[in-house]
Amino acid sequence: MRLQKAVLAKLGDYEIRRCERKDIPSVIEINMKTLPEHYSDYFYYEILSEYPETFLVAELGDILVGYIMCRIEYGFSQLKRLALARKGHVVSVAVEAEHRGKGIGTGLILAAHSEMVKKSATECYLEVRISNTQAIALYQRVGYKITGRLEAYYRDGEGALVMAVQVGK
Ligand code: ACO
Ligand code: ZN
Repeated sequence: MRLQKAVLAKLGDYEIRRCERKDIPSVIEINMKTLPEHYSDYFYYEILSEYPETFLVAELGDILVGYIMCRIEYGFSQLKRLALARKGHVVSVAVEAEHRGKGIGTGLILAAHSEMVKKSATECYLEVRISNTQAIALYQRVGYKITGRLEAYYRDGEGALVMAVQVGK
């Protein structure tokens, strides 16, 4: 019997499913091409083994075109002053340039949100470069609000916006 791969969402011919170990080299390649923030190979495998439910990929046929990797954390809420919360941290999300503008980025974020809710997260947050207007607009469309600003957050000196959204309920 052939095992069915678990598709979490379909967007036209694109499918969103959980990342597997064999996908990591392609995920790293997409990250290298699309973002200035890179991580060690170990970091990707580590996130996948610790948070397999919320590391997702978007695929067209058998070609990976995007990914989202997240961590579940417990700590101070980004949304409620001095409250503690279980938070879904969107560590990195990217879609290959030629596949952008088709809803894949939004699809990855929404699919990751529902997986993070299943892991009991009540809010999600992320950091984004102040100049990354396209990503900021996307996050705002799905409900994220700017909750903070981190000066010189990135290695090149650029600052980050912290953005957060309530999820579930
Ligand atoms: N190319 C890019 N954007 C387009 C295009 C196009 N050809 N055509 C339209 N758009 C616009 C649309 O306005 C669309 O909004 P809509 O939903 O109102 O139509 C919006 O761009 C993009 O929305 P999606 O299609 O859902 O998202 P996409 O698949 O393009 O991915 C992403 C968005 C992930 C931000 C992508 O641009 C990307 O990979 N950028 C480089 C990496 C990056 O900056 N990642 C985020 C860093 S922050 C972090 O990781 C926490
Ligand atoms: Zn982060």
